[in-house]
Amino acid sequence: MSQTKRISIHGQWSSRWAFILAATGAAVGLGNIWKFPYIMGQNGGGAFVMLYLACILLVATPIFIAEVMLGRRARRSPVQGMAVLAEEESAAPAWKYLGWMGVVAGFLILSYYSVIMGWAMAYVERAMTGSFHGLDGAALKSMFEAFKADPMELLFWHSLAMLITMLVVVRGVRAGLEAFTVLLMPALFVILLLLVGYGMSTGHFVEAFSYMFTPDFSKLTANSVVVALGHSFFTLSIGMGLIMAYGSYMPEKVSITQTALFVVAADTTIALLAGLAIYPVVFANGLEPAAGPGLVFQTLPIAFGQMPLGVLVGTLFFALLTLAAWTSSISMIEPAVAHLVEKRGWTRVKAGIWLGLGAWLLGIASVLSFNYWNEFKMFGKTFFELLDFTTSNIMLPLGGLLIAIFATWMMRRETSFAELGLSPRMYAVWRALTRYVAPLGIVIIFVYGLGLLG
Ligand code: PFF
Repeated sequence: MSQTKRISIHGQWSSRWAFILAATGAAVGLGNIWKFPYIMGQNGGGAFVMLYLACILLVATPIFIAEVMLGRRARRSPVQGMAVLAEEESAAPAWKYLGWMGVVAGFLILSYYSVIMGWAMAYVERAMTGSFHGLDGAALKSMFEAFKADPMELLFWHSLAMLITMLVVVRGVRAGLEAFTVLLMPALFVILLLLVGYGMSTGHFVEAFSYMFTPDFSKLTANSVVVALGHSFFTLSIGMGLIMAYGSYMPEKVSITQTALFVVAADTTIALLAGLAIYPVVFANGLEPAAGPGLVFQTLPIAFGQMPLGVLVGTLFFALLTLAAWTSSISMIEPAVAHLVEKRGWTRVKAGIWLGLGAWLLGIASVLSFNYWNEFKMFGKTFFELLDFTTSNIMLPLGGLLIAIFATWMMRRETSFAELGLSPRMYAVWRALTRYVAPLGIVIIFVYGLGLLG
């Protein structure tokens, strides 16, 4: 960490920080603040949190490290990178399809991520105009329901969210966003702490804390296990080659493991803080933990409507949420853009515009699934739910499984040992986790959770 002292906000990043900031910007987003709290509530609280933490520690972190390692070794974008590595290790050329799956997954995720980012933007406006003042849980629930029921408003915000995402993607100004991530993350952290502090003043903090950290395993279903695993991939942005792409820009000397652990720690802390900010408000107002995707929009505004300086704090909160979503949304389309530029010779502008238009169009189906099409279900899920489920809970863990297999079964031991630069003991821990624990965990969860045998 000694080098951090020499870096000014305006100056050059040492490359270690460039990776950390890009990866943290991609990792911390709606997944931490919007999704984690509501899926925790849908899956009964504490036991789900334990499962999620176990997945992060035993499955996602080792795979995060493996993914960075593959990227740094290949020094190429995922599709090409996997082809190069497969050749180097005499593995089947078909490994390049792993890169492909990531390209598709990123595109699909962006289509609905932009819709939810739009919700955050819409709530900046509501917070700023003092709309939450004095409203109780029931009133805020109806405010959210009315918002969700209006496809034109959702479409407007979705379009705006996609537009600002594309602006950055097309210009390729990631460097600027990294500089801004360094301010964004601490700001998000501080505002969450402030809200946790507010939670303490409600007199329901202890209840919320024990809801989150006292596991009651009887509340878990087979589906909860799949959701916890999928979320550990979604929240860290792994399993789709993005982290591989970022890893490919990492210099030789930097410790992959240390940087990975830093990103994982930051991401997990933000998610847990979001839970600790939201749940005291849920319990203090007798709300439903299983409210679903509207949870954060129905709960925190109660706090903003009551606390001193609530207009300011509420506006800041939703603005920061929008910005965190933004640094994630621009990253998830990156593998697809890089691929079209490399393979098809498209310009960044052309790739960005077409992909953005495509994801925007597809996003309209998610917009409609919250209103006109909310009765239209496949496998018991609306379009949005099905897309979210397939990408986060199937495609990303499947990508992660293949990454783990490639890194520890296909790649020679010496290669990964040299690339990671760990002590023999730490290397053995990583290897055991990535070679056995993570793949087995993913396979067992898939077989059991998705009912593949029954
Ligand atoms: N990790 C982001 C979040 O938690 O909001 C979501 C995400 C970003 C997923 C980038 C995938 C990705 F490539």
